[in-house]
Amino acid sequence: FREIFLESCWLFPVTAGDDRYLRDTRSVSVRFRWEIHRNFLTWILCRIWKNVRQVLQWQAKDYNIENKYTYEVKSVKLLEDRIKKEGQALSETVLKVDSFINHQVDSVFMDALGADFAEHFKDAGITKVFTIESSGIAPALMTAEHLHVPLVILKKQTSKILNGNVYQTRITSFTKGTSYELTLFADYITPEDRILLIDDFLANGEAAMGASRIIEASGATLAGIGILIEKSFQKGRKRLEEAGYTVYSQARIGKLGAGVIEFLPEEEPASREEEPAD
Ligand code: G4P
Repeated sequence: FREIFLESCWLFPVTAGDDRYLRDTRSVSVRFRWEIHRNFLTWILCRIWKNVRQVLQWQAKDYNIENKYTYEVKSVKLLEDRIKKEGQALSETVLKVDSFINHQVDSVFMDALGADFAEHFKDAGITKVFTIESSGIAPALMTAEHLHVPLVILKKQTSKILNGNVYQTRITSFTKGTSYELTLFADYITPEDRILLIDDFLANGEAAMGASRIIEASGATLAGIGILIEKSFQKGRKRLEEAGYTVYSQARIGKLGAGVIEFLPEEEPASREEEPAD
């Protein structure tokens, strides 16, 4: 066995053939010879590299699984954490989240939020996801992808291309102080549709109520409303719930102020106070 071992390793005793050295491996004196031993060394190095690579791959795999798990199971908590880290309360009513939602968009994060919406509404028989341009598009698209249904983007302006049958309703945004005609081409909705409406912010519920008017005018059903950030101190949620809609918000803000962002637990009822004066 010793002989086979030594030969397979090409570690020949200095005095090859001298049986004396093979009887006790401890007495074998080995001299390194590049010509003889380079293959063996290369083989050893290859083995080591292969093992190291395998360990690195396992670690990368574990890391991904861990991340995916965290995103899928705790995305609601993640949104709160992200708002705490990157959100800025600009006033008592306006929260700035430009770094991952409204201006720069964190696509991986949006995917996780979309997965969370899809999980929440998976039994609602959703046939289409609707959103209102523009900031709702990213999470809505991810939600539609996870539910395997189309996304329809409600337009804020009448397009010349949308000539034909359209549904329209006027929306006034109190946060932005603007008004627009929310528009949907009739071809993209049918009375059989069950719609999930996704939007980034819920303030007074103007946009969501407008979308609901359009959906109901077509004969379709608004089966659920998914909101990333609900400002629970404003009246949007109350209006939508009183109109009979199911609202699921991933982050619920109870209070905003200079350096203050307070969250409501998921189950806690929203404050019924009127919107603070701008
Ligand atoms: P409402 O529909 O619930 O009544 O809300 P409101 O009209 O007051 O405001 C809706 C618009 O204002 C949305 O933008 C929404 O993204 C934005 N908005 C509302 N509250 C906040 C806030 O606290 N922070 C930020 N950053 N935005 C807020 P939009 O008109 O749909 O335009 P877009 O930004 O999606 O293009």
